[in-house]
Amino acid sequence: MKHSRIVGTGSYLPEKILSNADLEKMIDTTDEWIFTRTGIRERHIVAENEFTSDLAVKAALQAIEVAQISPNDIDLIIIATTTPDRTFPSTACLVQEKLGIRNNCPAFDIQAVCSGFVFALATADNFIKSGAAKRALVIGADTMSRITDWTDRGNCILWGDGSGAVVLEASDDVGVISTHLHANGSYADLLMVEKGVSNQSGLNTITMEGNAVFKVAVNTLDAIVDETLEANGMAKSDINWLVPHQANIRILQSTAKKLGMSMDQVVVTVDKHGNTSAASIPLALDVAVRDGRIKRGETILMEAFGGGFTWGSVLMKY
Ligand code: COA
Repeated sequence: MKHSRIVGTGSYLPEKILSNADLEKMIDTTDEWIFTRTGIRERHIVAENEFTSDLAVKAALQAIEVAQISPNDIDLIIIATTTPDRTFPSTACLVQEKLGIRNNCPAFDIQAVCSGFVFALATADNFIKSGAAKRALVIGADTMSRITDWTDRGNCILWGDGSGAVVLEASDDVGVISTHLHANGSYADLLMVEKGVSNQSGLNTITMEGNAVFKVAVNTLDAIVDETLEANGMAKSDINWLVPHQANIRILQSTAKKLGMSMDQVVVTVDKHGNTSAASIPLALDVAVRDGRIKRGETILMEAFGGGFTWGSVLMKY
């Protein structure tokens, strides 16, 4: 059976930076409160005329360049996003057009909120393993600022905008080792944007029961670490890098502790990016690959938790 392997990474952050000091001028909060509770110092915010597809294209072009391919070599596009440009068509179709891909390859979005990238990567991995695709462009891109209530101080401090992308290619060498995806819809109301396309009532911004989300996230991520290691007969010490969804530094620290890892082995970007939802894992991966921390052949655990609730992991050799 073919394996799938990452051959290129890329990422993009919008120009505008919103610091905790800026937030102090908008809501009743302090840098100290935000940093202590979340580990966040600043986040990036899209310009008025900048959309999720624009962010996605910029990350994709970098990943394509690193992979040394041309856009038309791609035969599958999957974008994880909760903030698509339009209700339809999918952001993946818009990105296909913007990249000038004319080979009619399948392009579709996946919506699993903050777990979206893990869901998208797992899907692309299965396309490649089954022989249905050879070279997939997998993107996590979100403009969470567009669905944030900037008067809700317990919530708006968390979110940021950005994108990350990988090119995933069929290979004889092991890349992705295993993927594990889960959802439990009974938690739907704890973290949501109630108003949608079909349901035209309720708020059209994020509402969240922060404390409850925090507790379930920590327990669930502990369980997915066990599940992933057990499925592969691996020990905690076999993992070189944790590349987690960047929700909150305290959640990251808890997963690192569970793995017996020092924080030096955890890629942390939450301080500078905030929670960029589906973009956070590929953004963190790209940062750590570009600064030389993550090297070829090392074992990476990606894990994520998000609205739904959804959660999952990808274990891979980089
Ligand atoms: N600045 C100052 N005070 C604030 C504040 C802010 N930005 N936001 C809330 N507070 C206040 C609250 O009003 C409350 O005051 P009170 O005790 O007088 O009522 C107090 O701080 C504690 O609020 P609470 O909501 O209990 O804080 P918390 O310790 O749970 O921290 C979060 C809030 C959101 C940081 C935390 O719950 C969290 O990170 N949860 C996980 C959320 C998450 O990661 N979601 C995405 C998952 S993908």
